[in-house]
Amino acid sequence: MSENTKHLLKLGDWPAHQITAVLNLADQLKYERKHGIDHPLLRGKTLGMIFQKASTRTRVSFEVGMCQLGGNALFLSSRDLQIGRGEPIEDTARVLSRYLDGIMIRTFAQQEVEDLARYGSIPIINGLTDYAHPCQVLADLMTIREYKGSFSGLKLCFVGDGNNMANSLIVGCIKMGMEVAVACPSNHRPDAALMAWAAENGVFTCSQDVKACIKDADVVYTDVWASMGQEEEAALRRQEFKAFQVNTELMALAKPAAMVLHCLPAHRGEEITQEVLEAHANEIFDQAENRLHAQKAVLVKLMKA
Ligand code: CP
Ligand code: NVA
Repeated sequence: MSENTKHLLKLGDWPAHQITAVLNLADQLKYERKHGIDHPLLRGKTLGMIFQKASTRTRVSFEVGMCQLGGNALFLSSRDLQIGRGEPIEDTARVLSRYLDGIMIRTFAQQEVEDLARYGSIPIINGLTDYAHPCQVLADLMTIREYKGSFSGLKLCFVGDGNNMANSLIVGCIKMGMEVAVACPSNHRPDAALMAWAAENGVFTCSQDVKACIKDADVVYTDVWASMGQEEEAALRRQEFKAFQVNTELMALAKPAAMVLHCLPAHRGEEITQEVLEAHANEIFDQAENRLHAQKAVLVKLMKA
């Protein structure tokens, strides 16, 4: 994996020490916010936020984060931008680089995010692609460390679709020294190259045997069965993923003090039961809150001169 720390395109680009530095800053910013201390570290700076998919947490945490840091955020729906009418990403990147100090983009193809970084001259942040969701995983790691004290000796079990969340969790957790087990149907496995990297660089397994995967897990993580853009496959996926639901019976196999995380939005009765979600609501909504603190730390690291 080659390093690229000017942007946050995917966690594989960041060395472990950069991830740790952002988590430490996120903890500090959270503490300070709770004690009424705000630093206008990005005064006069503007973040453009391009959305080609829906969002609650990502949009609001970045927009509020920029505001709390003394800067501005512009919500740029692809429906309104010329991108939506076919203006090439390389032109958009060069134009927006002359107005903005950073861009956060949520889109489909990872290549679009990589191209924005290649042709633009300002920091680019991946706010979710079909391949990765690095911002979410920084908040997830922050939450795990908050609850468990450190990453050392922890096992995370991801149950469900080997999609963007699973891909980024594998990288983030392995880089932080955690063991990762992914339980998914054989036709919905995470990215093959990422799994090979994980097996070489840490303790990693991926199988259909959900009971073996979740055994003694410290952290159980799940995500929707049909991601944004896969709505038409929802009915088929409900069949394919039936055995991959995080429910009370499955949770009995994890460690008694296991935490449950979900990036949200959640589909109760599909990937997680109402009972498990509500039993773990504290950590799941702390995780959602931590998007704000983690995003602010990313913004400061990438955009502060
Ligand atoms: N978890 C997450 O990224 O949420 P949104 O889709 O609401 O931004
Ligand atoms: N896998 C989900 C994550 C949402 C935050 C999706 O891409 O829709």
